[in-house]
Formats: sequence, C-alpha cells, structure tokens
Amino acid sequence: MHVWTTVAEWASRRQTMEGMSIGFVPTMGALHCGHASLVERCRRENQIAVASIFVNPTQFNDPQDLERYPRTLERDLDLLERLGTTDVLAPPVAELYPQERRFRVVEEPLTTLMEGVCRPGFFEGVMTIVLKLLNLVRARRAYFGEKDYQQLQVVRDLAREFFVPTEIVGCPTVREPSGLAASSRNALLSSSGREKASAIFRALATAPDAGQARAQLEAEGFRVDYVEEHWGRRFAAAHLEGVRLIDNVPVESRGQEPGAGGR
Ligand code: PAF
Repeated sequence: MHVWTTVAEWASRRQTMEGMSIGFVPTMGALHCGHASLVERCRRENQIAVASIFVNPTQFNDPQDLERYPRTLERDLDLLERLGTTDVLAPPVAELYPQERRFRVVEEPLTTLMEGVCRPGFFEGVMTIVLKLLNLVRARRAYFGEKDYQQLQVVRDLAREFFVPTEIVGCPTVREPSGLAASSRNALLSSSGREKASAIFRALATAPDAGQARAQLEAEGFRVDYVEEHWGRRFAAAHLEGVRLIDNVPVESRGQEPGAGGR
C-alpha cells in the first residue's frame, strides 16, 4: 500500500493507472467498521482501491469540534492495508487548499435543510473538498455511507452538476448490535453513553411520527437538533455527553420533494 502526502506524487502515480478501474473511499480517518464495509466493497468492485484520510477543516464550523475530532492515522493505515487498499491520500491541508479558502462550492436548496441549518458552512466545506478529491482521483466509482444520507444526496447532485464521471455509490449504514450507527464520534462516548445512544435508532425506527420520535429522545435526556422526514426517510441529529450524533432510517415514502434531484 502506498501513502501519498503530496498532490504531485499522487498525480504521477495516477498516470500509471490509466485503463484500470479505480474505486475511491474518501474519509476523515478515525476509521470504524462502517468505513471498512465501504473499503471492502470498493476492493471487490474495482482493480484499484484508493482511500483518502483528510480531516477537512472547511467543514467544521466549530474550531473545538475540529480539534476534538479523533485522529488515529497509524491505526487507520493498518486497517486500510489489511483491507487491501492499494493507495492512500493523506496530504496536509496546504496541499489540498493551496489558495486557502479562495474557491468554494455552494448549493441550494438541499443544503438549507437539517445539517445545513445546524452546521452553517458544513456542506460548503464538504462539497468543496469532495469535488477536489473526485477530480484528483478520477475514480470509476466513489463510495459514501448512507448514515450521512443528506451528504450522499448532495454529493450525487454535485457530481452530476459538475460533470464528474465518477459513479457515486451509496452504501448501507453499518450498525452495532444495539442498533447504534457506526460513527467516528462514537469513540468519544462513555460505554454507558454508547449503549444509551442506540435510542436514536430505536426512536427513528419505531416512533409513529417525527414529533413523537423527538419527544422520546428528549425524555431520554438527548438534546435534539432535529427529527425530520425527507425523501422517504426519517432523520435525527441529537447530542449526548456533548457528542453530536446523526442517523436516518427509511420510512414509508411520502412523495418526492423539490430539490431532491429527481430521486
Ligand atoms: O463523510 C466524511 O467523512 C466527510 O464528510 C468526507 C466525505 C470525507 C469529506 O470530508
């Protein structure tokens, strides 16, 4: 497995891959079983499996959140190697933002919902870095988890709008036996918090409507940012032990909404 820390070195390596099917898994590190399932699928479906590990500063609106984000590079590289990843991009910030924040991607209306409301600038940062990475890797397929379903929708539309030829592949959320969605942020919870956090999945999956799911979570001590339904799914973001967690599950479809890219 090769680890690339400069764009120039990666670009030379990329030239040697012409004609091969390349799969790409973008990550911010702190890898868990959800990422492993993306990499395994990427490995199965492509000749070359590329991953990136880059904690993207532009998608954090809270500097403390950025500082607190778990960084486990050695362990991540070890896992990626065991999973058969061929190449890892792990550049420093200046390599991917040589002109700092001069260029940004903005979108409406998808990014004015849910995560876009609670985390101003988040999607701008995600879209900007994902477009850069997709252009750098020029993969046949790129893999994104459905746990970040709104992100997946935005990235699909972004790729279509900017004529990026990479197919954006959505992959099912991996859950712990309790139902808790695998997330890098779970590592920040105490063991009892981790058990309790599975209430998010239960409330989403079993409450008769979004309002009651919210009430259920508040009664269990969560600080709830939102519980909303879009695109036939129910979404929640809630805080526990100072950690912000998100999840979503499919619910009975209530019809398409404007701005959902025709899905
Ligand atoms: O989902 C993530 O880990 C990040 O938002 C992504 C897609 C790697 C962009 O930084």
